[in-house]
Amino acid sequence: MFKALVLEQQDKNVQATIKQLDESALPEGDVLVSVEYSSLNYKDGLAVTGKGKIIRNYPMVPGIDYAGTVLESSDQHYQAGDKVVLTGWGVGENHWGGMAEKARVSADYLVPMPEGLDSKKSMIIGTAGLTAMLCVNSLQEAGVEPEQGEILVTGASGGVGSVAVTLLSKLGYKVAAVTGRPQNREWLQSLGADRIVSRDELLEPARPLEKQLWAGCIDTVGSQVLAKVLTQIKYDGAVAACGLAGGFDLPTTVMPFILRGVKLLGVDSVMCPTEKRVKAWEQLAELLPEAFYQDAGQEVALEEVPELAAAIIRGQVTGRTLIKI
Ligand SMILES: NC(=O)c1ccc[n+]([C@@H]2O[C@H](COP(=O)([O-])OP(=O)(O)OC[C@H]3O[C@@H](n4cnc5c(N)ncnc54)[C@H](OP(=O)(O)O)[C@@H]3O)[C@@H](O)[C@H]2O)c1
Repeated sequence: MFKALVLEQQDKNVQATIKQLDESALPEGDVLVSVEYSSLNYKDGLAVTGKGKIIRNYPMVPGIDYAGTVLESSDQHYQAGDKVVLTGWGVGENHWGGMAEKARVSADYLVPMPEGLDSKKSMIIGTAGLTAMLCVNSLQEAGVEPEQGEILVTGASGGVGSVAVTLLSKLGYKVAAVTGRPQNREWLQSLGADRIVSRDELLEPARPLEKQLWAGCIDTVGSQVLAKVLTQIKYDGAVAACGLAGGFDLPTTVMPFILRGVKLLGVDSVMCPTEKRVKAWEQLAELLPEAFYQDAGQEVALEEVPELAAAIIRGQVTGRTLIKI
């Protein structure tokens, strides 16, 4: 038997309950993993509260990422005892996820634990950190260099935003962090933000083109905030857009694209090809300083997940939330 957080649907509401399950309940897969850590991401918040149509089939074990040790494997790439990390591929959405003591998956979904990381560190990073790294790589591939000017990070107190601030600062970029929570100013500065921009400034209506302020941006918010940012990007600059914490619409014009050559780069971590994600994990292991793992967030138990899931949707969770299984 093993412990799991199980989501079930009752009268169109989602119920989250801790249950003891038999291993035979686990879905198909060629690798059985003893899960040591998972983490709470915005998407987990949507799944656990039922506020987003993330899950189609119940019962479901949530948890879009996890790390642990292989217990059994019929795949030649993994053996019992190997340390592994998993993010994305629809795990925790349409395949049972990491908020359980055991998980069974396809070997294709796993990444061998990068050197320098362990289960705990890899889940402090988690899907949010991987996404932040993919965003940084996108900006760099688009030619955005530190000497071109400041990089804006929206939703900076969140999981993706806070890791993005840390990574950009480590790579020598000047970072302007956008937050709706002034109380997080000092913490964001300790992560590497050079200045703090109030979210309210970016919620003001945007003209088609505004003063050119930013060489690039990592946007986790979408909607009005992203629309405003696009009008302030410098000539030939780029925005890596990965999130919708403020909404999924984009009320913009073509002006930044056709008159300033601004590039809008979509970033997805879920179906990201294995080669790209393995490289990103190695970069994360190398770039993140030891202090990051102490200051990045909080550690909670499985029992606390439903309450925190509601808080992350309300925008009240700061940094990363590690779940000890
Ligand atoms: N594309 C991908 O593969 C991928 C992967 C991971 C996450 N995501 C998406 O990226 C976004 C961030 O994820 P996360 O895990 O970092 O979530 P998170 O920890 O909740 O962070 C989101 C942050 O956005 C800000 N925010 C919240 N509500 C807002 C609003 N209404 N308007 C403006 N800003 C708001 C808050 O920061 P402040 O308080 O500092 O303003 C909040 O901390 C989510 O939409 C998530 O679905 C996408």
